[in-house]
Amino acid sequence: MRISMIGTGYVGLVTGACLAETGNDVWCVDVDAAKIEELRQGKIPIYEPGLDVVVRRNVEQGRLRFTTELKEALDSSLFVFIAVGTPPGDSGEADLGHVFDVARAIGASMDSYKIVVAKSTIPVGTTMKIKETIRNVLDGRGRGDLDFDVAFCPEFLKEGSAVEDFMKPDRIVIGTENNRTAELLKELFSFFTFREERMFAMSVASAELTKYAANAMLATRISFMNELARFCERVGADVTEVRRGMGSDGRIGSAFLYAGIGYGGSCFPKDVKALIHSGRQAGTPFSILEAVEAVNVEQRRWFFEKIGARYGGDLKGKSFALWGLSFKPNTDDVREAPALDLVAWLLDGGATLRAYDPVAEGNARKALAGRPSVARAIEEGRLRFGSDNYEVLEGVHALILLTEWPLFRKPDWERIGSLMAEPVVFDGRNQYDPDRMKSGGFVYLAVGR
Ligand code: UDX
Repeated sequence: MRISMIGTGYVGLVTGACLAETGNDVWCVDVDAAKIEELRQGKIPIYEPGLDVVVRRNVEQGRLRFTTELKEALDSSLFVFIAVGTPPGDSGEADLGHVFDVARAIGASMDSYKIVVAKSTIPVGTTMKIKETIRNVLDGRGRGDLDFDVAFCPEFLKEGSAVEDFMKPDRIVIGTENNRTAELLKELFSFFTFREERMFAMSVASAELTKYAANAMLATRISFMNELARFCERVGADVTEVRRGMGSDGRIGSAFLYAGIGYGGSCFPKDVKALIHSGRQAGTPFSILEAVEAVNVEQRRWFFEKIGARYGGDLKGKSFALWGLSFKPNTDDVREAPALDLVAWLLDGGATLRAYDPVAEGNARKALAGRPSVARAIEEGRLRFGSDNYEVLEGVHALILLTEWPLFRKPDWERIGSLMAEPVVFDGRNQYDPDRMKSGGFVYLAVGR
């Protein structure tokens, strides 16, 4: 099938490349000419395991092409996917500016029947507004005769395993206004899932809400566990044991029950905020989600205060090694990463930091440079980045684990102990065994245990 993918961000690039990988002809379109040029040369702007191989292979075999010319792509496509960003606006609402820019551009360029599929995460009702926008532009061009359908197919891929998630999805949700469009989309996606019952055709509004509901539910589980962790510490329970005990109940399941320093990334924080906003607007506020967000914001602060408490609230003259900066392992993405707030707060408190992340250092530097107090601390030499996870440990008063990269899972504790000034470990991701840490001579402070 012939497809245009508008937007070569995370979702667009992965979806476009994977649709090409399964034999479709895909044009990826973006207004960023420099990015398109790099992609043509096989340079991938994001770190995502396996994506470079898929992109290069499909470019070489001529199924995946990149362009800034929307018309060129549209003319040869039946499906037009919209996969541009919907960042949070001032009151938490999804900013739909890019989505409607694309809708207008489609209306201005199309000359034959299309199925316009929204993939960006958008509030309920937006797909129908996209339809209205395209229709208005067509009418303005005197091309009211042109027919098209709209659909909404949410994306559930996770950063760090996006290619695999796309190739082996748990389910495919297809929101359409009519059966014909649903059948065509089912056919397009039939390659990925052999079990028909894993494809859910539904109304456009239900599909739009499914995406928000799924992310909000996962975020709710995490915030619940984080609040439970704080309680565990007060009453002498271990949240990791409680997790195992409760997660083994098939009705609950074990995924997304890991207490830590809170969720980050480009989806959960934004989508929870957007659904809260939509709920308020509709007159049915999500009081649960308001709490989920509040707990998430508090959690990183709670961890920071736990570190401070060990030093009587005074971090001046203390030096810490930080392991991990990305919002989760296997990605260089630092958007809404709890680690960045912790870096800023520790520096504001007067500490000296040495940080190491396997791939996110560059993005962390850029994101942190925007915070004036951090920029000052960098000038004063109080924040340095190390080239490996042992180097940053030399002479520090404690190690703080912020992202659970596989590299950090089984480190050489003897070596670590010999490098550090004091054998103290703050584990923001509950990666280590408290008994072993204790017998290894470490003071071990984790989350909810
Ligand atoms: C998420 C959804 O999982 C995905 O389906 C959707 O398409 C996009 O948003 P992603 O943001 O890539 O994917 O990351 P995910 O693996 O879901 O983790 C999100 C955050 O939650 C991370 O900061 C992670 O550290 C945190 N998390 C996750 C926990 O704190 N505890 C958990 O048990 C699971």
